[in-house]
Amino acid sequence: MGKILEIIDLKKYFKTNQGTVLAVDGVSFHLEEGETLGLVGESGSGKSTVAYMIAGIYSPTSGKILFFGRDISMVANKRSLTTKGEIQIVFQDPGTSLNPRRTIGQILLLPLSVHKIGKANERRELAEELLQMVQLPKDYFEKVPSMLGGGEKQMVAIARALATRPKLVILDEPTSALDVIIQAKIIKMLMNFQRELGLSYLFITHDLSLMRNVATRVAIMYLGKICELAPTKEFFEKPLHPYTRMLLSSIPVVSEEEEALKPKKIESRGEIPSPVNVPPGCSFHLRCPEVMEICKKVDPQILKFSGKHFVRCHLFSKNSGHNNTSGNEE
Ligand SMILES: Nc1ncnc2c1ncn2[C@@H]1O[C@H](COP(=O)(O)OP(=O)(O)O)[C@@H](O)[C@H]1O
Ligand code: SF4
Ligand SMILES: [Mg+2]
Repeated sequence: MGKILEIIDLKKYFKTNQGTVLAVDGVSFHLEEGETLGLVGESGSGKSTVAYMIAGIYSPTSGKILFFGRDISMVANKRSLTTKGEIQIVFQDPGTSLNPRRTIGQILLLPLSVHKIGKANERRELAEELLQMVQLPKDYFEKVPSMLGGGEKQMVAIARALATRPKLVILDEPTSALDVIIQAKIIKMLMNFQRELGLSYLFITHDLSLMRNVATRVAIMYLGKICELAPTKEFFEKPLHPYTRMLLSSIPVVSEEEEALKPKKIESRGEIPSPVNVPPGCSFHLRCPEVMEICKKVDPQILKFSGKHFVRCHLFSKNSGHNNTSGNEE
């Protein structure tokens, strides 16, 4: 399996009246073909900004985005055409991502004609097939989004994303606005599409427990940086970063087995600081139960702990006595 996506030291700063927002501040990771990388973090940690840069909605302040090894970071506004629709994004709120003045049919036909998929007279059939794929009836073709429920709208948004036969689909909290039954249905559908169509997913969520069954690897974001990244099993069995352990300790579990695996309850302390006023040193140090003197001054680097497990924390840096080797996420 090759690398479909690689992002290197990606940054996005926004200038605002309150100061510069360090929304994404040096994020690196890659995605293998056919895998699901879960990007998890609290609201405001920079997840959507990462997504929007990959999708070409925002230009990065600095850093690189490689798609099949090709640098696409500089073509933000032409990204969709440059990548021939091979990168698609599904947004959290299907209510605002679908044009209210277009019928579902028109919404599905648009990407087909923009990307010249099929002959003009075949496109209606292709669009109907897309509707069928997401299990919506044919007569929805003539409806407008306001006539659909939230889950149905999100299925239309997924069908639209699949129209251009993408290789990479960014799912930005695709089910957070929906109730749990519809959420489960959509997740199942997405997993089936992944298998059938060989898709790679960057799955963004604030719901860590959802990632257990969905992600190949999990990355945790905090204030614009990744603080831990590991294969899913290892991530849940051996969480390292104090922030990860704090998040995991607050997940409700269903079995005793899971309870035994869970880190000891760590009280969540404080709120996520503003990305305009990022604390010096480790940005988590004001909330960290294990804070040391060095943490207040020096921002830790992300280091390889073992195999594919990476962590950004002084507890695991070279001189701390823990057994690890340094390296970049690759
Ligand atoms: N266009 C923008 N202008 C200014 N600040 C922004 C903009 N977009 C996002 N931000 C800020 O960047 C930070 C990260 O936002 P976002 O990527 O949406 O986080 P998440 O998706 O994890 O909730 C937040 O503090 C947010 O307010
Ligand atoms: S570097 Fe220090 S403050 Fe930051 S997470 Fe690790 S122990 Fe906590
Ligand atoms: Mg978001």
